[in-house]
Parts: sequence; C-alpha cells; structure tokens
Amino acid sequence: MGAFNIPVIVGSTRRGRQTPKVARFIERRLVERDGIEADLLDLAEYDFPIMEERLRLRDDPPPGLTEFSERVARADALVIVTPEYNGGYPGVLKNALDYLLPEYHRKPVGIISVSAGPWGGLRALAQLRQVVLSLGALPIPANFPVRHVQSSFDEAGETEDPAYEKSAERFIDELLWYTEALAARRALDPK
Ligand SMILES: Cc1cc2nc3c(=O)[nH]c(=O)nc-3n(C[C@H](O)[C@H](O)[C@H](O)COP(=O)(O)O)c2cc1C
Repeated sequence: MGAFNIPVIVGSTRRGRQTPKVARFIERRLVERDGIEADLLDLAEYDFPIMEERLRLRDDPPPGLTEFSERVARADALVIVTPEYNGGYPGVLKNALDYLLPEYHRKPVGIISVSAGPWGGLRALAQLRQVVLSLGALPIPANFPVRHVQSSFDEAGETEDPAYEKSAERFIDELLWYTEALAARRALDPK
C-alpha cells in the first residue's frame, strides 16, 4: 500500500484567525511520519458560497468545489481543525462539509478543537463528531483540545508546550490505526 493521504481541513475563515497555526502544526507532524502525505485544505482559500445544493445534484458547481471534492475523495483519512464559536463549530465548516457525501464514506476523521479559553473547544468537538457520523465517516476516539490558542502556538505553528507534542503523537498514532484498518477493509469492499 502506498502513502496514506491525509488532508487537514482548516475550519475557520475569520479575519485574524488562529486556527491555521494549529493546522500547520499538525500538518508538519503528519508529514514527519513515514508513509503519510498531508496538506492543508483551507476553507478561506475556497471561499464557497452558502450551499444551495449538494455537489452531486448540481451541474454548475461553484469555483473550487470539484477540486475540493476530488481531494476529499482521494483522502484515506481527514483531520479537521475547528474553532469553537458559541458552543459549536463554525457555520462555514458545516456549509463546506454539506456539499459532499460519498467522498467521506467509511473514512476516519480526527478532530482538533481550538479555543481562546481554557476548555479547548470541547463542545465544538462533541457536536462535530455527531455531524461526522451523519456524513458516513468515523470520528476517532482520540481528542486534541487546544486551549489559549493565541499564546500556545506561534504563527509558524510551533509550540513550546511539550504536552501538545505528546497529544499530537497520540492523536496521530490513533488516526493511523483507524486509517490502516479502514483502508484495508474498504479495499475488500470498494464502493
Ligand atoms: C463568534 C465567536 C464565538 C466564540 N465562542 C466561543 C465559545 O463558545 N467558546 C470558546 O472557548 N471560545 C469562543 N470564541 C473564541 C474563539 O475560541 C477564539 O476566537 C479562537 O481564536 C477562534 O478560532 P479562530 O481564531 O481560528 O477563528 C468565540 C469566537 C468567536 C469569533
């Protein structure tokens, strides 16, 4: 089996957003592992309009949506880095996720939640797990809450807190376990 392809979805498009710092951090830690290809799927670059209909039911997809679909379809697993807004995940993230469906089928999804406060966006994590199940994908059990994101990561996506390095290792180990298991099983039953 070739390298596993694991895109990292950046779930914030806010002006002055902090989430890309954490996305860069986990992208780098993924790429450092043998047998993983990772890159950022940045919703701010796609700038999708409010969803009027799902991709598969449209013959006039908005710019970038077909490419977004192909990247998710090609993925063996996804990482979603989501901030917490008012106790949930951002609308822009749900809007983008809702455009697709078969592309997610039976793939593992690791969720990293980000907040400015002390709880690391755990409410956004819980809500997004429910949504991921409805997409036909599998949220992995490991969590990765990032607290006080303004000060815990720098612009380059580095942290001086060894606890986050440990979290990343555990999170990636878990994600890879599910990625390998589900990829092997999907290969027996491709659809
Ligand atoms: C609309 C909005 C709502 C927010 N609600 C919460 C919240 O419910 N819980 C929390 O811990 N932080 C909340 N915050 C603070 C965010 O966690 C913080 O701004 C973080 O940097 C968001 O990620 P971003 O910078 O990538 O957008 C909120 C921020 C915004 C903009």
